[in-house]
Amino acid sequence: MYTGWRVPQPTVPETKTALPRQALEHFPRIDDTEHPVRWEFPSYLDNPNCRWLQALKEMYAMPIVFPASLSPEAGLMLHSLIRNLRPRVIVEVGTFCSISTHWMAAALQEMGSNGVIHSFDDFGPIHKGPWRDAEMLSGRMEWIQDRLARAGLLDRVIFHPGDSPTQLVAARDDLARAGGVQFAFIDGDHTIPGALQDFWAVEPVLNTGGYVLLHDTFPEQCGDHDGPRHIIDNLATVGAGLYECVELYLSPLNYGMALLRRIG
Ligand SMILES: C[S@@+](CC[C@H](N)C(=O)[O-])C[C@H]1O[C@@H](n2cnc3c(N)ncnc32)[C@H](O)[C@@H]1O
Repeated sequence: MYTGWRVPQPTVPETKTALPRQALEHFPRIDDTEHPVRWEFPSYLDNPNCRWLQALKEMYAMPIVFPASLSPEAGLMLHSLIRNLRPRVIVEVGTFCSISTHWMAAALQEMGSNGVIHSFDDFGPIHKGPWRDAEMLSGRMEWIQDRLARAGLLDRVIFHPGDSPTQLVAARDDLARAGGVQFAFIDGDHTIPGALQDFWAVEPVLNTGGYVLLHDTFPEQCGDHDGPRHIIDNLATVGAGLYECVELYLSPLNYGMALLRRIG
């Protein structure tokens, strides 16, 4: 055995602590860029032979989906996560206009998997708001079902209308019988109590080795949504299981994501 060299031991000062995210050398800030007013669908995704991509392209052109839906860049990352992590049972909290649902359902279809998405939302009215100059006052679930059908993805999704933590608890036995949840995308009520309730509602049926993806984790950039941040910062106490966590940056608006993996 070759013993002529040793791996140098890094010297880490005992007092070294993690930097706040704003102090990180690389932390894309919204004020570093001009705020977009719509999502741009990248031309490299504009494949006329792919039905679900064409469906997404149509939806991204609608003012209603900006800015609360995932950007195409973030959607592509979500799609890629599903294709790589290969969950069989997915929980989505916060369907909104179903942009994120499309990205995940398309991943299941492309993999030829019989995986399914349980999507939770109150499907209530969408009002005009900051950066959103459009509204949908009724019929959201029917509109979404029509959109998913056009994309050829409707059979991948089971909807759970109503208050998400209540509906999640009601669905828990079925989720457990299906083998538990391997991937939960939580993007619903972003208040601290709201995000905690969604997290705690799905937690008991999340497999060890399973993932939770939180959206809107940088409250100073995404409009004071402090629930997801609270979960990350208090992971050791809010998680009944044991979690590891990595934070992700998003483009073009860095609202942030965190990928949690249950390891205990
Ligand atoms: C930010 S949007 C989700 C965006 C979506 N994941 C996407 O990327 O396309 C949040 C959604 O959560 C829903 N929501 C918020 N609080 C809820 C609650 N307590 N129960 C059910 N749905 C809720 C809202 O109606 C909205 O549709």
